[in-house]
Amino acid sequence: MKKIISMTVNGILYEQAVEPRRTLLEFIREDLGLTGTKKGCGIGDCGSCTVLLDNVATFSCLTLAIQADGCKVETVESLAEEGNLNRLQEAFVKQGAIQCGYCTPGMLMTSTELIRRNPQPDEKEIRRAISGNLCRCTGYQKIVEAIQTAVEDKS
Ligand code: FES
Ligand code: FES
Repeated sequence: MKKIISMTVNGILYEQAVEPRRTLLEFIREDLGLTGTKKGCGIGDCGSCTVLLDNVATFSCLTLAIQADGCKVETVESLAEEGNLNRLQEAFVKQGAIQCGYCTPGMLMTSTELIRRNPQPDEKEIRRAISGNLCRCTGYQKIVEAIQTAVEDKS
């Protein structure tokens, strides 16, 4: 039986009926049409589905939509500022941290959380933060450099 949940996603309040087994990832992508969040493994191994749930980087494939009832969710669509890429997104582009791009939304959300709670992370902290996000293409070095660039630009 469906349950009515309410959730603020990217600043917009949604009240919707969902099946108890519907994941947050399915809710975001299929019910709300926010397809920036990607499904990779679906079992908590890759991080491509990462969103911020009440400011905490969270695998949306492992979270039920009903668990996010009453919560604030931020997806990659929230990052652009007035239609322009934000500092972190710009840095990913400039540093060549995007190849196929499939991991990028998750990487961006994980690093957004990191920078919010630690505005000056060192390389080790950056690597630790993104250790749950897999990238098949870049070898991670460019991603680390992009995050470092975004942090330096901010200081
Ligand atoms: S799709 Fe969620 S961790 Fe891989
Ligand atoms: S850029 Fe292809 S998986 Fe990371």
